[in-house]
Amino acid sequence: MQHLDLDFVRQQFPMFQTELGQKIGFLDNAGGSYVAGAVIDRLTDFYTNYKVQPYGANPISNRAGEAMELGRRTMAELLNVSADLITLGASSTQCFNTLSIACTPLVAKGRSAAAGEVIVSEQDHESNIGGWERLCQQQGATLKIWPVDPESGELALEDLEKLLSNKTAIVAVTHSSNIIGTINPINEIAALVHGVNAKLVVDGVSYAPHAWPNLDVLDADAYVFSTYKTYGTHLGVMVVREDFLQELAPQCHFFNMPYPNKRLDSAGPDHAAIAALAGIGDYFAALHDHHFAGKKGLPLHRKARAVAALMNQHENELCAYLLENLNDLPVRIFGRKTIEQREANIALSSPKISSKALADGLAEYDIAAKNGHFYAYRLLQAMGVADMNDGVLRISLSHYNSLEEVERCVAGLRAMLG
Ligand SMILES: Cc1ncc(COP(=O)(O)O)c(C=O)c1O
Repeated sequence: MQHLDLDFVRQQFPMFQTELGQKIGFLDNAGGSYVAGAVIDRLTDFYTNYKVQPYGANPISNRAGEAMELGRRTMAELLNVSADLITLGASSTQCFNTLSIACTPLVAKGRSAAAGEVIVSEQDHESNIGGWERLCQQQGATLKIWPVDPESGELALEDLEKLLSNKTAIVAVTHSSNIIGTINPINEIAALVHGVNAKLVVDGVSYAPHAWPNLDVLDADAYVFSTYKTYGTHLGVMVVREDFLQELAPQCHFFNMPYPNKRLDSAGPDHAAIAALAGIGDYFAALHDHHFAGKKGLPLHRKARAVAALMNQHENELCAYLLENLNDLPVRIFGRKTIEQREANIALSSPKISSKALADGLAEYDIAAKNGHFYAYRLLQAMGVADMNDGVLRISLSHYNSLEEVERCVAGLRAMLG
């Protein structure tokens, strides 16, 4: 079976050429990944050669506009969706906030008999909860919380079924949790949600870096993720299906309303960051062509998915090793104890040593990992974490991590906890 060529992968990231990049085993990837060189090249090119207002007749402005179009087009190709359905925001949180405001007509005041309820999951990052809560408060609508199991942190479909009714307008849930790492069965959730004619909004921020979303098969009405966690610039990408988009209150200038990709564009993010999205495509293509030389003619989304499968396999091997070792240490592992239906994102806590002390201790081993609640505040509260500021220690892997880095992390943890 084909394996990821880790040397080749690491050559694509300038961070690994720096002194600190070589020294530190970076295992805080769920917070934000390293940036691929191809992205940095495009960013530098934009800022160096055409950082002016785009879409003017002069050649400098023209190039800026073309580079931005290429960035948007590349993201559309990587996801295999029409560029019209993609809104780019400063972050995923901004995308979710804009989307929740745009959903006002769906949970309109006085429409309670038809659709006055929104369901959010307790497992989610606050990014996909707060906006929905504010919308409900403002509209006098009901916010229902889909609770997690306090021990496992997982969501049960039966609990969602109990909450759904013909009043449900929207259900917001994460594709996978940034704490427990379980991958949720989005299409089974979608079938239930669509069964009561509600819309499903999915947070793909934690999932996308591990397995690049396949929107051909995911039955979400809106899907959001952050490109600064997928080796790119700091943006949020929001894909909203056409029929959902039609029902939403536009958030753009009135004269931009005819353009679908501008309807939810409440404030255009950094032009150069948009242009540099093309570099994520370059990165996937370079990896693909290196590993699958005979299949260079494939469309970009097929290349991305083939590469993502290799990345995922590599991460899972590292994660299985990490879990095996953690399983015989005196720690609470949040989420599943094996790699099954799980991404390489492991949170843990110790009854004896604070999560902060564990993170500080790992730094002595030149391992970067972080402690805290990671904005999944409600999840950790439900799971009984007492000190939210200390929270959990999170070790989150990326495909560019090596076994040696994970071994060093395990050695550090063993020394502190064993
Ligand atoms: C699962 C999840 N959702 C949403 C977000 C928010 O993303 P952004 O920082 O782009 O607003 C994060 C950020 O860490 C996250 O982990």
